[in-house]
Amino acid sequence: MLELKSLTKRFGDKTAVDAATFTVDRPMMIGIIGRSGAGKSTLLRMLNRLSDASEGEILFEGREISSLKGAARREWQSRCAMIFQQFNLVPRMDVVSNVLHGTLNRRSTFATMFNLYPQDDIHKAIEILDRLGIAEQAPKRAEALSGGQQQRVAIARALMQDPSIILADEPIASLDPMNAQIVMDALRRIHEEDGRMVIANLHTLDTARRYCDRVIGMRDGRIVFDGSPEQLTTGVARDIYGAGADFSEAATSTAIETLDRTTAQPVPA
Ligand SMILES: Nc1ncnc2c1ncn2[C@@H]1O[C@H](COP(=O)(O)OP(=O)(O)OP(=O)(O)O)[C@@H](O)[C@H]1O
Ligand SMILES: [Mg+2]
Repeated sequence: MLELKSLTKRFGDKTAVDAATFTVDRPMMIGIIGRSGAGKSTLLRMLNRLSDASEGEILFEGREISSLKGAARREWQSRCAMIFQQFNLVPRMDVVSNVLHGTLNRRSTFATMFNLYPQDDIHKAIEILDRLGIAEQAPKRAEALSGGQQQRVAIARALMQDPSIILADEPIASLDPMNAQIVMDALRRIHEEDGRMVIANLHTLDTARRYCDRVIGMRDGRIVFDGSPEQLTTGVARDIYGAGADFSEAATSTAIETLDRTTAQPVPA
């Protein structure tokens, strides 16, 4: 259903993503891992068409995505919703209005200016918030919520678009372990129950192993691993993250949790 063919992004002399090629034939949950600067965000941004590819193609259900323009490009962006590390909510706006922002693409400028939302959309927003366990937060300002709650509001906003794909760029990087788990559980549940594809950039191996059906490892813009969590061995992890990281058998599962991604050196406890 989703096919990337030699997708490449260059910034001047720098090749941020180098001929990324892979096929996804069913709505899986995919984790993308790699050191800082490996090209993970650039890849997601090209998929969502926030950024244009320098070369290559994206096909979704046989349709060419990389060349879509104007309204067709916006329509694609609502079919493939994006979630960010910093949630990107409007802090002073209430939660339900933030969620309703997910419908902006299909509302008129007039309705947007005057904050006019159809009753059906309001019901839908509350239902989604309820599903994510935060319906009681609906009237509060977004800034009054915890990080984990704010990320669930961002997920709710994405779900308002009824997307086929959810792209998440380090969705739990700013969260404590408990909230990280709540957010990853929510993404996994949305994937399983709704059959939506989830592609998430993740900064820890453990999270990728635990939640994803498939893991893609990037290094210096290139895809150096594409397989199941079981295939993600210590040797493979070393190849993705580079020498210098502590990948001894006993340490593998936890060491990378505390890996400084800038240097790939374990952070002293
Ligand atoms: N707008 C830009 N202009 C120039 N270079 C860029 C731009 N965006 C990204 N790059 C470069 O492309 C490379 C890949 O960056 P990208 O943000 O995709 O990495 P990443 O894997 O998401 O890293 P991180 O884990 O730190 O988020 C880096 O070398 C980065 O400096
Ligand atoms: Mg990034």
